[in-house]
Amino acid sequence: MNLKKIIYTLAISVLLFNCSSNSNDDLTPDPDPNPDPDPTTKVTYDANVQSIINNNCAQCHGNPTANGAPFSLVTYTSVRDRVDAILSRINNASSPMPPSGQMPSANRNLIQQWKDDGLLEN
Ligand code: HEC
Repeated sequence: MNLKKIIYTLAISVLLFNCSSNSNDDLTPDPDPNPDPDPTTKVTYDANVQSIINNNCAQCHGNPTANGAPFSLVTYTSVRDRVDAILSRINNASSPMPPSGQMPSANRNLIQQWKDDGLLEN
């Protein structure tokens, strides 16, 4: 092997090494596809969720329940314990809650964010 070949081989090795193992890109997490619109303020039941439920659900899921609703949603624990069923029905376009039609996405996103923020009461 002549000197030219050795230098060439070394140069290729350095290039390959740089490409495969010296890249900081691998260490940077992908950007959050659904970023929290306001990461400094957490969504809470008292501040955000209770009024959405009162305005859109309580006429049936009240205490007492009405119009055949199977449970009431008037306390923090009753809403928290059913958050997955609530999310699946408020986002279900063919069988939504409330039955009259889907709420605006802002309301639905708030309830999703409430769950993501840890289901805080206040
Ligand atoms: C007009 C009355 C009415 C309103 C308003 C209403 N619901 Fe309901 N809800 C019902 C009835 C009746 C059922 C039982 C039949 C069914 O599941 O569709 C039900 C069932 C549910 C269920 C049970 C789903 C399951 O899989 O067991 C959830 C969760 C729910 N409602 C959440 C909500 C939420 C959250 C709201 C407000 C955003 C709401 N509902 C508004 C009448 C209502």
